[in-house]
Amino acid sequence: MSTEEELQRTIDDIVDPTRGILAADESLPTIGKRFAQIGVENTEENRRAYRALLLTTPGLGDYLSGVILFEETLGQKDDAGKPLPQDAAGQGIVPGVKVDKGKGPLSGSPGDLITCGLDGLADRLSGYKEQGARFAKWREVYPIGPHNPTPLGRKANAEMLARYAAVCQELGVVPIVEPEVLMDGDHDIERCAEVTGHVLHAVFHALHQHHVTLEHMILKPNMVLPGKDCRRAPPEEVAEATLRVLKRSVPAAVPSINFLSGGQSPEEATENLNAINQARGNAPWQLSISYGRALQQPALHAWRGKPENVPAAQQALLKRARLNSLAREGRYDPAMEKE
Ligand code: 13P
Repeated sequence: MSTEEELQRTIDDIVDPTRGILAADESLPTIGKRFAQIGVENTEENRRAYRALLLTTPGLGDYLSGVILFEETLGQKDDAGKPLPQDAAGQGIVPGVKVDKGKGPLSGSPGDLITCGLDGLADRLSGYKEQGARFAKWREVYPIGPHNPTPLGRKANAEMLARYAAVCQELGVVPIVEPEVLMDGDHDIERCAEVTGHVLHAVFHALHQHHVTLEHMILKPNMVLPGKDCRRAPPEEVAEATLRVLKRSVPAAVPSINFLSGGQSPEEATENLNAINQARGNAPWQLSISYGRALQQPALHAWRGKPENVPAAQQALLKRARLNSLAREGRYDPAMEKE
């Protein structure tokens, strides 16, 4: 199979009109924060048990077509000794892997951040592929401030995303390109719209310059939302602003846009996705999810590290996955939360 065919096959397997992607790729410090909320120690065994719970949830493949794993998970096994990526693949869920190495300050550009991990990326990707990963994810983070992100910050971050995506495609791995404009702050929804538009324009300019094939990537953006410390916006307003910004900046060649949840509650993230799909009009892409917290939070709290809670936790995950699948078609209703 040529690299091109390999990329297309992965896109065909992931891009789906009703299913989405689960982000279960929390780094060691981040999963540590999640476990601390439920009083579970951040050990390799607890991480294995938790991720095995997620990936062996019966029926999950009805609602999910992809899962982003942390590199450690690629080498871990379920209780029966089966590699976790195979558990996902066996349910029709394509395994992928987060390949960036986290963020830090962008020197010379106060308030902007930059993600590292390009050194040795091709070698690491080849290893991940052997472990079953068929797509990858890289996240750049943009805090909103009075003067941030700066033009330099936008340019440097876009360059990283494009260089990562080009390496992935050369190796037959589909890149998820994730520019995340953060919700932190008291900015209003229009400020988020302005920043997200600038960021996406810079990202697609860099992708073009680095010869990334848009047909063989997935965009994982933030929804356009007011800052956490601003008044909440109704779903119709979020949908209007999000679609306006995306339609002005994302080429039609991109097959799928899979939103991150970014600190929205699980219910809010589903309601907003539903409103976006109801208002999609002539949008040329799939409008789906790649949620981390908004899919996992209820499952994590149902589990609390106890083996006897595994079925309840799996039901909680399945419920969020199912409701988001309905939201893909604009058929979600908040009343369904009580069912
Ligand atoms: P959230 O949906 O919790 O924002 O996580 C998605 C993700 O993968 C961030 O990189």
